Amino acid sequence: MGRDSGVVLNEKNRYIFTSHLLGEGSKWRSVVRQGFMTDKTYEGSFHIVGGDFSRAGEASTELKTILLNAGVEDEFVRRVAIATFEAEMNIMIYATAGILRYIISPEEIRIIAEDMGPGIEDIELAMQEGYSTAPDWVREMGWGAGMGLPNMKKNADIFRIDSVVGEGTTVEMIIKR
Ligand SMILES: Nc1ncnc2c1ncn2[C@@H]1O[C@H](COP(=O)(O)OP(=O)(O)OP(=O)(O)O)[C@@H](O)[C@H]1O
Ligand SMILES: [Mg+2]
Repeated sequence: MGRDSGVVLNEKNRYIFTSHLLGEGSKWRSVVRQGFMTDKTYEGSFHIVGGDFSRAGEASTELKTILLNAGVEDEFVRRVAIATFEAEMNIMIYATAGILRYIISPEEIRIIAEDMGPGIEDIELAMQEGYSTAPDWVREMGWGAGMGLPNMKKNADIFRIDSVVGEGTTVEMIIKR
C-alpha cells in the first residue's frame, strides 16, 4: 500500500478508508496533518438530491470532519461548515438535484454548488436578508428565514451566484484561511 493511498481525499470511499486509519495517535493522522493544506490540492464532491431531508447536512458535516481531522483552524472550519450547509440546504429545498464540489489548496477552499432546478428570477431580491419563498412545510421544519444566501456571502471571502430560470443555480464561494 503506497503512502499516498491513505491521504488523497478526493473520493468519498477514499475518505472513509482514510478515516479508518486516523485513529488517535495513528501515524496517518500526522501524515495528513503535514500534507493537508500545506503542499497539496485535494478535491471531492457530494451529490445532493432535492427533497431528501433524511440526508440534510450530510455533505457539510463530512467536509467539516475532513477539515477537523486534518487539524485545520476551527474558525476556518466554522465558516466553511456554515457556508456549505446553507448551499446544501438550498439545493435540497429548491432544486431537483445538485452537486457540491470542493477544492482545497493550502491557502483556501473553493466550493461550487451547482443545481438543476427552477433558478432564481431576481437574484438581488433573493440575496436580501429575510426574503424567502420557502413553502409552509419547509417553514414548519424551521427553515425559510431568508438567511441562507446572506450567510454564505458573509462567511465567504468571494461569493458569486449565477442563475438561469428554468435551468438552475450555481453558487461559487472562496474561503481563505
Ligand atoms: N438553489 C436555489 N434554487 C432556486 N431558488 C433558490 C435557490 N437558493 C435560494 N433560492 C431562492 O432564494 C430565496 C432566499 O434563499 P435563502 O437561502 O437566503 O433563504 P431561504 O432558503 O428561503 O431560508 P433559510 O436559508 O434562512 O432557511 C429562497 O427562498 C428561494 O426563493
Ligand atoms: Mg436557504
